[in-house]
Amino acid sequence: MEKSKIEELRQKRAQLYAGGGEKAMNRQREAGKMLARERLALLFDSETFQETDLFVQHRCVHFGMAQKEMPADGVVTGSGLIDGRPVYAVSQDFTVAGGSVGESNARKIHKIMDDALKTGDPFIFINDGGGARIQEGIDSLSGYGGIFYRNVLLSGVVPQISIIAGPCAGGAAYSPALTDFIIQVRHAGQLFITGPQVIKEVTGENISAEQLGGVESHAYYSGVVHFVAESDEDALLITKRLLSFLPSNNVEDPPYIEALASEAIVDDESLNEVIPDNPRLPYDMHDIIVRLVDNADFLEIQEHFAPNILIGFGRLLGRTIGIIANQPLQKAGVLDINSSDKASRFIRFCNAFNIPLLTLVDVPGFMPGVDQEYSGIIRHGAKMLFAYAAATVPKLTVVCRKAYGGAFLAMCSKEMGADRLFAWPSAEIAVMGAEGAVNILYRKEIQAAENAAETRKKVIDEYRTEFANPYSAAARGYIDDIIEPSQTRAILSSALEILKAKRVLRPEKKHGLIPL
Ligand code: HXC
Repeated sequence: MEKSKIEELRQKRAQLYAGGGEKAMNRQREAGKMLARERLALLFDSETFQETDLFVQHRCVHFGMAQKEMPADGVVTGSGLIDGRPVYAVSQDFTVAGGSVGESNARKIHKIMDDALKTGDPFIFINDGGGARIQEGIDSLSGYGGIFYRNVLLSGVVPQISIIAGPCAGGAAYSPALTDFIIQVRHAGQLFITGPQVIKEVTGENISAEQLGGVESHAYYSGVVHFVAESDEDALLITKRLLSFLPSNNVEDPPYIEALASEAIVDDESLNEVIPDNPRLPYDMHDIIVRLVDNADFLEIQEHFAPNILIGFGRLLGRTIGIIANQPLQKAGVLDINSSDKASRFIRFCNAFNIPLLTLVDVPGFMPGVDQEYSGIIRHGAKMLFAYAAATVPKLTVVCRKAYGGAFLAMCSKEMGADRLFAWPSAEIAVMGAEGAVNILYRKEIQAAENAAETRKKVIDEYRTEFANPYSAAARGYIDDIIEPSQTRAILSSALEILKAKRVLRPEKKHGLIPL
């Protein structure tokens, strides 16, 4: 072949790799952001990322676009290996037309998503763009439609992770919303449907872009974001750590780490000390979780949103588990609307990807209140019941302390399909707490008593003796065993080993109707 042909190819490539040019690249760096290809190079195992469609060009002729060069049409797409496993990725190039999505740009993304579906490998979308490319009008909208449609096709087949590393505005925010996990970079990442200007015009509210769509908004209040990253590098590390717990698709099991499986389990006496003597005192549920999982390695998800429930991944003797646990430090661990939504979605993710569930229970009940009722706690709380009952993965439940009323059922009781339900001696399993129960059962007696306070205390003590223990439930077979906290890790590991081959047959249907 003529040498000039190779030279021509090299030149063309170099031109395209230069993206939006020196000035735009500097601007990106000054904003504290990595370039699109730099992000991918850091995310994938060294030299494994293969870019596709580098030479694709836009076909827009409006607004002087016909003369405009748009290297790679503003998006880098391809596949490679992360920790030796194939993964597909899209990285928007903000230096080219602000990373906006037009017809050809979207086609590149569609191709990658179709490939991820074909080979059953995770899909990662690094967002850093201005949304639909305005000059391309309806073609841009159509392009986004194709992305959303494929997000839905991929849902439950391969894990999908979105990184918000720059702007992600307008309808564009709905692609991340359709994926399984969103990682937002503090300050750089901003996510909203309508920006500050539109809000001011429509509702008169004044708000900055950061206040509206920054991490404070989404990690704490809206619950849209699952992880907060401090930088691009941090976001990529979180992505890799998250992937390490997940299977590549819904027909594989999660990665099994054999080195962890061979570690001897010793009783952890400190677990016997975590629950305070006084049942009214809170404690930190993290203290239990880190003692149960391998190497105290717990990847917490949505740490700041609805903190009265904890969710995240850990491992038991090398096998990934999904953990759902009430957090007595926050609102006494009560179940409310947000915590129900948070946990239900996670349960469904784990079930879709063959990840066994470990539920740790210390729940005083559902949150009482007019606001909760008006906002539909019935509908939202029902999601927990639905998600647990529908889940066919192995389900292990440990009642650490309070397990009251419907909230106990919603935390995967035996009836909701728990395969193993263990209780600690500190467990209190009853239809409701002692204080509430005696007000209903003994109201007249307390009112008529000479010393109401003393009578109330007496009946509360009686109720607690009768119900505030795990023995009544065990006597009826509602729990499988009462165990010493120190032995919990060993007992759960053995149970999981036995249950790993669990198969459940359910009636065929299109899909159930989880209350949304
Ligand atoms: C075309 C765009 C663009 C867009 C940015 N650019 N957004 N070009 N379509 N949507 C271009 C700019 O013209 C500029 O080009 C370059 O990208 C960098 O943008 P700047 O504004 O200079 O950068 P910055 O100040 O950092 O602001 C970034 C931004 C802002 C916040 C993203 O550009 C912005 O608000 N863009 C519009 C966002 C938007 O409303 N998108 C459409 C939403 S509707 P030059 O040539 O000057 O470098 C939507 C519908 C989705 O997305 C449909 C799915 C249902």
